[in-house]
Amino acid sequence: MADGQKTSGVLASLRGPFKAIEPPQTDATHKLHRTLSWHHLVALGVGAIVGTGILTLTGVGASLAGPGVLLSFLIAGVVCAAAALGYAELAAMIPQSGSAYTYSYVALGETIAWIVGWSLILEYSVVCSTVAVGWSGYFAGFMSGLGLDIPHALANGPDAGGIINLPAIGVIAMVAGLLLVGTRESATLNAILVALKIAALLLFVTIAAPHFDAANFHPFLPHGFASHVDPDGTKRGVLAAASIIFFAFYGFDAVSTAAEEAKNPARDMTIGIVGSMVSCVIIYVVVAACAIGAVPVDRFAASPEPLALVLRLLGSTTAATVFGAAAVVALPTVILAFLFGQTRIFFVMARDGLFPASLGRVDARSGVPVAVTCVTAVIVAAIAAFLPWSEIAALANAGTLCAFVAVGAAILVLRRREPGRPRPFRAPLASIVGAVAIIGCLYLFWNLPLATQLRFFGWNAIGLVVYLVVRRRARKNEAALQA
Ligand code: ALA
Repeated sequence: MADGQKTSGVLASLRGPFKAIEPPQTDATHKLHRTLSWHHLVALGVGAIVGTGILTLTGVGASLAGPGVLLSFLIAGVVCAAAALGYAELAAMIPQSGSAYTYSYVALGETIAWIVGWSLILEYSVVCSTVAVGWSGYFAGFMSGLGLDIPHALANGPDAGGIINLPAIGVIAMVAGLLLVGTRESATLNAILVALKIAALLLFVTIAAPHFDAANFHPFLPHGFASHVDPDGTKRGVLAAASIIFFAFYGFDAVSTAAEEAKNPARDMTIGIVGSMVSCVIIYVVVAACAIGAVPVDRFAASPEPLALVLRLLGSTTAATVFGAAAVVALPTVILAFLFGQTRIFFVMARDGLFPASLGRVDARSGVPVAVTCVTAVIVAAIAAFLPWSEIAALANAGTLCAFVAVGAAILVLRRREPGRPRPFRAPLASIVGAVAIIGCLYLFWNLPLATQLRFFGWNAIGLVVYLVVRRRARKNEAALQA
């Protein structure tokens, strides 16, 4: 931390009632540029949400819940919709790039904010790594289709019998490079790739829908509704599938990290968050219903590329190839949105004095926080290069669930403590929305594998030690300044 920087200096001004909560007045080297409109933000949200989840987890969910995975989609969708409404209210009211970290700071205090910020690292960084590893699988398959086989040892981490996942490192480096060029340029390319991704899903629906057969929905709940552990040790049931399918839905929260780059944050944040979330719930339910209606779930449940497989089973081999190619080209938008979000959260934490101030410096020409973008990309690439996909995906879910619980709590606390504070967007039925976000996310957390829960608590124990060290140094600096 820079000498003389007060840990609570910047955000202390946010806690008083009725204060306009604008980003703090900082010098130009610590100020982001306002270049994004609402359509960039909807594209950022859809780009972050539609990814590995719908493309691969549809099969995993179907193997855990049968055709009832449709209910899993609805349940995860309802919990995320509640969290999205909370995010929309808070992001419009507190237009700062720290997302759930900043809202927790304002509503719940610095220590909880640190825990949330530390957990957000699991969400944002680990999601980038997870999606990069998923992308690497699609990419290797795609290259192999072109007759260019990537050696197994160089396209997989040690858990999968490889040495290092080079394609995963490569895609992260590419996305980080794009972010360094500039936020607006990244947002424009993101919008094009999102359109491609939606076109691919539309292609899927157009081909699968005419084959819809209601008989494929029977039996609807072969593994029951409640989550239970089967003799093979796997948690199954609609609710168990929902806690995995949850991965497919988040990403709308990344929009809130662009609050300081939105031209009209009060309006654009709401449209970006709610718009991307609602679009994705509709897209997901339609895609899942078409997949299950067209082909019995057992035939695609175990596939790492279930939607492409459904197209092949329906005889549309060319469409399956086009779909796979679109996935390879468009999946990096998820990495782009989360890498962008992580750098902005680190940026705000550095500006608040919780990380070294040098990390929060913004390049004058591009308006990008260069140091934090490079450091984040290196960490994310290292995780992707060596760690197993399924474990890091579950860990990302744990971090996200923690942030969503904090957002649910923040909306309830602020409604009660400061009912008159200006709210450009008011979430309807705020008490119910807050309660559904908190209870729903805690329940989904409860359904995660035990090893993931332990890793999550271990990560936060490390975080608290770091926090105590940071606080101690900040107090020393403050005392030295006053002396
Ligand atoms: N929702 C994002 C995905 O499915 C994390 O890839």
